[in-house]
Amino acid sequence: MRIAIAPGDGIGKEVIPVARRILEMLLPGAEFFDVELGYEKWKRTGSACTDEDIGALKDSDAILFGAVTTPPDPCYSSVLLRIRKELDLYANLRPVCGDGFDIMIVRENTEGLYSGIEEIGTERSTTLRVVTRKGSERIARCACGLAKERRNSLVIGNKANVLKSDVLFRDTCLSVAAEEGVSARTAYIDALTLDVLMHPANYDVIVTTNIFGDILSDACGYLTGGLGMLPSANIGEKYAFFEPVHGSAPDIAGKGIANPIAAIRSAAMLLAHLGRTEEAEAVEDAVGFVLAAGIKTPDLGGDSSTEEVGEAVIKRLS
Ligand code: NAI
Ligand code: MG
Repeated sequence: MRIAIAPGDGIGKEVIPVARRILEMLLPGAEFFDVELGYEKWKRTGSACTDEDIGALKDSDAILFGAVTTPPDPCYSSVLLRIRKELDLYANLRPVCGDGFDIMIVRENTEGLYSGIEEIGTERSTTLRVVTRKGSERIARCACGLAKERRNSLVIGNKANVLKSDVLFRDTCLSVAAEEGVSARTAYIDALTLDVLMHPANYDVIVTTNIFGDILSDACGYLTGGLGMLPSANIGEKYAFFEPVHGSAPDIAGKGIANPIAAIRSAAMLLAHLGRTEEAEAVEDAVGFVLAAGIKTPDLGGDSSTEEVGEAVIKRLS
C-alpha cells in the first residue's frame, strides 16, 4: 500500500506530520512518500504543482494533504482545483459531528461555480457556473449511498428559485434518491445554512453544489469549535485525497499551536476508506478522549501545543 503525504504550506507542515505518525503506527506495512506542493515550492521553483507531482499523487492508494497558501498573484492557478480536476475527485465529503448531531455534507467538487471557466476584465468579469446531468447524478449516487448506510435522510441544498442551473441539479438528485429509495427533500441553501446551525440534530446527509458546500461546511465549523476540527475527503472513481477543511493559517503558522485534530480526523477518514474501519474508529475515540481530558490547542480554549495534542492521541492509541 502506498500513501502520499503532501503537507503543503503554513500549518500544513505542522499538523500533517502528526497525522502521518498516527498512520505510520496503524498501517505498519504501508509505504509513505512525500510530495511537495504549494506556494513555498512555487517561490523556489516557479511551479506549485508539476506534472510529475500529479503523477506521484496518482501513484498512491490514498493521499493525505495539508493546505496550500494562495498568493495574491493573478498568474497563480489553484493547486487544489488542478488536483481535483486531474484526479477527478468529484465527491467532497465533510462530516460535521458533535454532541447530539452527526451530519455529512456531500459537496460536488468538479463543476458548479468552480468550473474555472472565466473571463476577467477591468469593467466586467464573469465565471461560468456549470451543472451537468452526469455530474449531478454521480454526486447524488454518492450521497444516497452514504444516506443508506446512515439514517436514510437526504436534503438537497440548492438555489433553483434564482439559479436556473440548479433546477437540473435539484431534479437529478430527486430522481436518483427516488430510484435509490432514499427519503429526500429540497431546501434553499441560504435558509438551510441557518437551520443547520440552529437545529443540527435534524440533519443526516446534505448534498449540494460546489460553492454552496464550501460555504456551508465552513459555517458548520461553528458547531464543532472551529475550522481546526473539521476533516474532509475528496473521492473519485480511482483516487482518494484527504485533507483538513482549514487553510494554511499564516496568522498562526510557525508557532506550534495549530490544532491537529482536523488533520488527524482526515487520517481517520483515510483509514476508513482503505477498509480499516476499526482503526478509524479508534482514532476518533482517541480524539474524543484527549479533548475530554482538556488537552486542547488555544483555538479551543486550551494551552496545549500541536505536538502535545498529537502525542496525547498517539499515547491513547498505543
Ligand atoms: P484558514 O483556514 O487558513 O484560517 C482561518 C482562521 O482559522 C485563521 O484565523 C486561522 O488561524 C484559524 N485556523 C485555521 N485552521 C486552524 C487550526 N488547525 N488550528 C487553529 N486555528 C486554525 O483560512 P484563510 O485565513 O482564509 O486562508 C489562509 C490561506 O490558506 C490562504 O492563502 C488561503 O488561500 C489558503 N486556504 C487553503 C485551503 C486549502 O489548502 N485547502 C483552504 C482554505 C484556505
Ligand atoms: Mg473553504
